[in-house]
Amino acid sequence: MSQKIIVTGGCGYIGSHTVVTLISNNYDVVIIDNLSNSNKKTLERITKITGTSPHFEHIDLKNPEQTKSVFKKHNDAVAVIHFAAYKAVAESVEKPLMYYRNNLLSLINTLEFQIEEGISNFIFSSSATVYGAPETLPITEENKVQRPFSPYGNTKKIAEEVLEDLVKTSSNLAAISLRYFNPIGAHKSGFLGELPNGIPNNLMPYITQTAAGIRKELQVFGNDYPTKDGTPVRDYIHVVDLAEAHLKALQRLLNKEQDKPLEVYNLGTGNGYSVLEIIKSFERTTNTTLNYKIVDRRPGDVETLYADTSLAEKKLNWKAKRDIDDMIASSWKWEENLKNEQ
Ligand code: NAD
Ligand code: UD1
Repeated sequence: MSQKIIVTGGCGYIGSHTVVTLISNNYDVVIIDNLSNSNKKTLERITKITGTSPHFEHIDLKNPEQTKSVFKKHNDAVAVIHFAAYKAVAESVEKPLMYYRNNLLSLINTLEFQIEEGISNFIFSSSATVYGAPETLPITEENKVQRPFSPYGNTKKIAEEVLEDLVKTSSNLAAISLRYFNPIGAHKSGFLGELPNGIPNNLMPYITQTAAGIRKELQVFGNDYPTKDGTPVRDYIHVVDLAEAHLKALQRLLNKEQDKPLEVYNLGTGNGYSVLEIIKSFERTTNTTLNYKIVDRRPGDVETLYADTSLAEKKLNWKAKRDIDDMIASSWKWEENLKNEQ
């Protein structure tokens, strides 16, 4: 019989790709999502790709009664992958309480009720933002964790601290925190991808929406950084590679292979690309010309971030396989499909 996995935030960008990977690997998936930053259509998209419709529980994880009852109903699950959170950095600066409330209460309720029901494995969506402005590169898991610039980022740092404390007292709990670098790309079918609400904050959806004519012009935030061409460097990772890393982390937990109750892994490719390099690759890969202009720096941006991924390679037996052209081409295919759907 298939093992049951609860995926919170499974209708979102990274969650939905992970659900596809899990179903394709014969897991039985229950999605918990309140659709605050996604929609039900994602369930149809997942079904179209996999031929299986995941169970769906439309609840808000901030609500303890609803959360308790869903975990009771699915207490035969063997693990929880927790994606549910708000993620817009600028909005979190404007509305810190909204971010602390949603991201921390959802985490606390999930952990409390999964432990109550005896579900002992937990995977958490963390972020490279917990490294702040790194003192050394590439970033290993040993790099110093610093207070992130934004309340959003701080919810990730606090969440990891909650897990550190909890594994000390909950003898059954086994947790893995995955620190994502910059996820981009989409499923190769073009049926699943990132669907930001309103104006995108992140580079890739802004690029594809500009090329699709939804946005007039891309603003490049600063070209006076001490990098190869003056624009900031990031470690972009294909969302399907990321989904596959979750599968590996899950298998590590289920096989009881972890070295300690809470493990932390960087998920990136180890390669850094500047904003201008991404723009040039986009233009080359899609044979389009992008309308962009250089403007002032965005507050809080760090000049260079890229991962040392050797720990994930060694312990999770995982390495990102897809290159930047694949990330860009799949993002564009998704954007074009969306346009045709309208
Ligand atoms: P997303 O917004 O697409 O998905 C999050 C999902 O969680 C959404 O479907 C939303 O409706 C749901 N959700 C939010 N609050 C909820 C609540 N209280 N109850 C139930 N459902 C709730 O985001 P994503 O890009 O897929 O990110 C997934 C996770 O990865 C988040 O925790 C995010 O902070 C983290 N992360 C994302 C990135 C990135 O660049 N996308 C980078 C680092 C970390
Ligand atoms: C941002 C968040 C980070 C979060 C991550 C995933 C900030 C400071 N950091 O990372 O906490 O975990 O998203 O959600 O917001 N850029 C432009 N023009 C744009 C958009 C972006 O030039 O319109 C540049 C940025 O200056 C940056 C690069 O593109 O140099 C990547 O930006 P983005 O996609 O927002 O990711 P991060 O800033 O790395």
